[in-house]
Amino acid sequence: MEMKNLTDCFELSNGVKVPCIGYGTWQTPDAEAKECVKTALGLGYRHVDTAWAYENEAGVGEGIRASGVKREDVFLTTKHWITERGFEKTVRTIEDSLKNLGTDYIDLYLVHWPAVAKRDAAWEETNAETWRGFEKAYKEGKLRAIGVSNFEEKHIESLKKYATVMPMVNQIEFHPGYTQMENVKYSQSEGMLVEAWSPLGSGAVLKDETLCSIAAKYGKSTAQLCIRFALQFGVLPLPKSVNPSRIAQNAEVFDFEITAEDMAKLASMPCLGFSGYLPENAPADALVYGE
Ligand code: A2P
Repeated sequence: MEMKNLTDCFELSNGVKVPCIGYGTWQTPDAEAKECVKTALGLGYRHVDTAWAYENEAGVGEGIRASGVKREDVFLTTKHWITERGFEKTVRTIEDSLKNLGTDYIDLYLVHWPAVAKRDAAWEETNAETWRGFEKAYKEGKLRAIGVSNFEEKHIESLKKYATVMPMVNQIEFHPGYTQMENVKYSQSEGMLVEAWSPLGSGAVLKDETLCSIAAKYGKSTAQLCIRFALQFGVLPLPKSVNPSRIAQNAEVFDFEITAEDMAKLASMPCLGFSGYLPENAPADALVYGE
């Protein structure tokens, strides 16, 4: 489906609808989150992405309430953190996130990072137990949809052996210069919606000459080009900005179309703006595992 505005939606495998651009809040301090989220909702965004580990769930929740937009008209995502793996802890941390956000349900809840063989010999069981906690809360109606983040094929294939509810989303790093195309295709073929974190490469791709010259052709900014690029791939972008004019700019991506030729160019750029984060070496894991 072609997206024409911020309220057009992707549909998950369980029928839940997800507004096509999410407002990202990674690295947004809690103290600023309220104002930022309120601004984004005021500009027409209807989808907000946070995480327990961003330490801004409270501000995000306040921003939603302060916006005057009804809770049911906002699609709210948060994520489970790596310190909370296992069934019991997962059940507890979901309650914690609900309390932080000041809501009684989460629209989409994601496993932030998979447990991996390099650090946990029982990684398959660990992920399965975490997922069991997700399924419980999903069946109780506390989570409208459940999914994963930063999972590769092997992690998803493993989860499939245990899951009674399949993940509906895989949120991964995706931007020109680092598209993880194999994972995108695999995840989509498994019926998951792929979401793009750092669709602007955390800002690192925005000055690239190739990207700037392609964007100029359309009379758009490089950020807008990157966001449109994700959408045309059927990948849901989650651009982050704390600046009202850039928040507005990032939503003005429905008045141009990238040609097939340019899409191919953007998809095959040399590596650029890669965060360096992979399941095996996520810096946060290093903190937890003391490496
Ligand atoms: P700021 O929050 O000051 O606007 P990503 O979404 O890939 O993580 O990228 C976020 C980074 O890109 C942030 O540093 C953000 O800065 C910056 N950014 C977001 N939107 C724009 C834009 N339209 N133009 C330039 N920089 C942007």
